[in-house]
Amino acid sequence: MTEKKHKCRLHAILLLVGSLALALSSSQSFAVDVFAETHLGPATCATSQCHGKSAPYPDRNVNLNEYTIWIDGDRHSIAYQTLLSEESQRIAAKLGLENAKNATICLDCHADNAPDDKRGPKFQISDGVGCEACHGGSGQWIETHTDTDATHAKNLAAGMIATETAEVRSEVCLSCHLGTKDKFATHTIMGAGHPRLSFELDLFTANQPAHYIVDDDYVKRKGSIPSFNLWLTGQFESAKQSLNVGVQRLHDGIGMFPDFAFYDCQSCHHSLKNVRWSKRRTDGVLPGTLRLHMPNIVVLDSVARALGADDIQQTLQGEKINTIKAAQQSRQDFATAAQSMLNSLAAARDTWARKFSNTEIVAVRRALLENAAADRASDYAEAEQIYYSFESLCYTLDELDRCASTLDQLFESISDSDTFSPRSFSLLAKKLVDSF
Ligand code: HEC
Ligand code: HEC
Ligand code: HEC
Ligand code: HEC
Repeated sequence: MTEKKHKCRLHAILLLVGSLALALSSSQSFAVDVFAETHLGPATCATSQCHGKSAPYPDRNVNLNEYTIWIDGDRHSIAYQTLLSEESQRIAAKLGLENAKNATICLDCHADNAPDDKRGPKFQISDGVGCEACHGGSGQWIETHTDTDATHAKNLAAGMIATETAEVRSEVCLSCHLGTKDKFATHTIMGAGHPRLSFELDLFTANQPAHYIVDDDYVKRKGSIPSFNLWLTGQFESAKQSLNVGVQRLHDGIGMFPDFAFYDCQSCHHSLKNVRWSKRRTDGVLPGTLRLHMPNIVVLDSVARALGADDIQQTLQGEKINTIKAAQQSRQDFATAAQSMLNSLAAARDTWARKFSNTEIVAVRRALLENAAADRASDYAEAEQIYYSFESLCYTLDELDRCASTLDQLFESISDSDTFSPRSFSLLAKKLVDSF
């Protein structure tokens, strides 16, 4: 089977110090619609008077070299080109599609697939995931956002998307990096060879070449999100989106089950030479049954344990088991259990919409390894989230030197999903945990 090479952080994010205007997370939900206004296309933003300068421009709020960064180094600008590759042709052929570049299902994530009546004169689908795929159609603000009296609030009112907030940003990113009710990389698409998708908001934010600088001026205009809160919001949003889309897309499923893409790939696709089941999965979920995967829950469980939030820890754990069992029963049971779990996630999130101290963050980082050591992160996607999160928190704490060898070892143990061994992962975590 095709498996994507593993990811680690490509470059350092800007670490922020001092007292900041906080943009903290709550369970409030946002309905982001990037297609509300006309999409004029990156060519409209690209001139050298606008966002197409070759280097950051002094004395302006924004750098004005955003287009250059995007076109030179951001994978989003080649997302459409990917659909022309042989790999994409093979995927398309197996799905019975004439080609990938004309298939709505591929364009929806590999381009800024605005409806026909929302495409301006310079719009080109071949531009890939362009500016407006994240920032929203610029039809109503392209003229005004450069006015001397323009403010961020005015831009937002004219349809710009609030990507500076953690909730909105995760919703935008997850729409393609996890999927939505309207576009989703189903197990059928995976079966044709599409790489498995994985996401962690803080990591993916860091890995997208930054075309903005969070400096004093930025903070004044937009506030800033402490990196721990960005990470935590990403965990909540991913868990939420996955449950929502799971329920909304029950029609993809086979028989009574949600689509196989909602399960841990390796729970079906692994060698039988090393049987993986162990006592860890208690609570009445039996070996050899289909377990919906919720890789973010073990991470949130680590947060709850570290903060001594026993009630949240037990609720989320209970809801998780409930939802897994319900998804084994019927679609209706699954939908009901998912709703209950969504409510619990929202409540937990409201409780944690605050600033966290370094001591707390250190405790959360340790709890990630403790959960892994206790063999509670033994599905591949869970181990992967533990690794992503451990890495994020090392960055947050500015302790890269201290973490380097641990990160290397964790990375190595999950670098190949085909040979991933839950037992080795847990033994490794046991060995590492005492240093943290
Ligand atoms: C739900 C959104 C979504 C859909 C639908 C989707 N893709 Fe993707 N695709 C992605 C994302 C996101 C990545 C990058 C994954 C990563 O690196 O984390 C990707 C990666 C790929 C890659 C690997 C690119 C590389 O350089 O490694 C290929 C090839 C690909 N997609 C082809 C297709 C084709 C063909 C279709 C239509 C049948 C399609 N995709 C549908 C989101 C999607
Ligand atoms: C994959 C999503 C994505 C794409 C594509 C994208 N951006 Fe951004 N952009 C962001 C995020 C996230 C931020 C940081 C949060 C914020 O300030 O909104 C940002 C910030 C910005 C800022 C704000 C800088 C500041 O100081 O306020 C500008 C200007 C900008 N982008 C322009 C562009 C342009 C022009 C393009 C296309 C060439 C583009 N972006 C493409 C996600 C994206
Ligand atoms: C319209 C769909 C879409 C949106 C919205 C989107 N992405 Fe992507 N992203 C993709 C696709 C498709 C790829 C793979 C491009 C390729 O290689 O063909 C990708 C690739 C990436 C990569 C490179 C992954 C790798 O394996 O190296 C990062 C990092 C990334 N996206 C971050 C983000 C972030 C952060 C956001 C939100 C601010 C975001 N993306 C929003 C579709 C999207
Ligand atoms: C519930 C079990 C189950 C889960 C979970 C599952 N798959 Fe599958 N997968 C199957 C079955 C059944 C087939 C069809 C095998 C065949 O045709 O012989 C298959 C086929 C495939 C194939 C084609 C293999 C081939 O040799 O043609 C790929 C690739 C694949 N799956 C990837 C994935 C990915 C990626 C995930 C996780 C997102 C995943 N699968 C999750 C059961 C599963």
